[in-house]
Amino acid sequence: MGTVSLESFRVDVERLRAEAVAVLGAAADDAGLEQARIEFAGAKSGRLKGIQKLLGGLDGADRPEAGRLFNEAKGAITAALDAAQVRLAGAAAEAAAIDVTLPGLPFRLGHVHPITQTIRRVQEIMARLGFESVDGPEVEDQWHNFEALAIGAEHPARDPLDNFYLAVAQGADPLLLRSQTSTVQIRVMEQRKPPLRIVSLGRVYRPDTADATHYPMFHQVEGLLVEPGATMADLKGVLRFLASSFLGGDVHVRFRPSFFPFTEPSVEFDMEWGGRWVEMGGAGMVDPAVLAAVGYDPAEVSGFAFGLGVERIAARRYGVADIRDFYRNDVRFLQQF
Ligand code: DAH
Repeated sequence: MGTVSLESFRVDVERLRAEAVAVLGAAADDAGLEQARIEFAGAKSGRLKGIQKLLGGLDGADRPEAGRLFNEAKGAITAALDAAQVRLAGAAAEAAAIDVTLPGLPFRLGHVHPITQTIRRVQEIMARLGFESVDGPEVEDQWHNFEALAIGAEHPARDPLDNFYLAVAQGADPLLLRSQTSTVQIRVMEQRKPPLRIVSLGRVYRPDTADATHYPMFHQVEGLLVEPGATMADLKGVLRFLASSFLGGDVHVRFRPSFFPFTEPSVEFDMEWGGRWVEMGGAGMVDPAVLAAVGYDPAEVSGFAFGLGVERIAARRYGVADIRDFYRNDVRFLQQF
């Protein structure tokens, strides 16, 4: 006869199981759980181990049933231990993730670059006068950058030292980074019939040494109007409207005689704002030779064109002394706009 009856073994196992599952399920933190684990499932002197030792005192015939009861209880306690571990880990992660008592994290919003702001503003002002905003390619051929604009082969503006010519296959037509946005005048007129009013703002490239007023890449505004009966007076009115709207207040525009191969007559225009005259850009009536080059009849339509530097008007408006600041990507500078 064994010293332990199957009945008392069953009672002990069930009691231990119920108690262990309750205690493990109630463990409030890692330390409490570890203590409970050692008490019930500790390898050397855990209470489960104590029950296991009783198995030796059972009758041989009762041992299979007692073993089954023991394994069942052990499985249930192990499962309760795992569940408690998962529960506490989840609670810890949740506590770390959301502390509802902390102030919220501010979003760091960037904003639009001052040059892009200027471009959008000019586009918006010109749209009010019916000028549609168009784009052109930055890699150009000689026709659009020079020839169609009546800038002949011998013109100094075509000098390789004054342009970024690209390496092309031998015998292929030379390509360059456009040196002016006047290219877009040609591209649009080749595609469309007059009347037209367009404005194009984009990058141009010239191998200038960077200083306070020069940069090898900068942006231009190009405007073009072609209609029957367009005059220099219209040109001046448009420039004055653009300048007043952009800078605010009353802006005066003055023309000085000048020369551009693609306008006749040609002028340079200055603007007076805040008591100071500043040179802004070039303009003129589109040369009849240019109209003819794109298949327009100079006897039927006339037009005016103008070009000015975006950096220059942005610097004027925002009081920036050195245009290189626009490209240094220093947020302390950029944040101000
Ligand atoms: N493309 C000229 C330049 O880069 C500026 C210019 C002058 C544009 C006269 C024009 C114009 O449209 O009519 O210096």
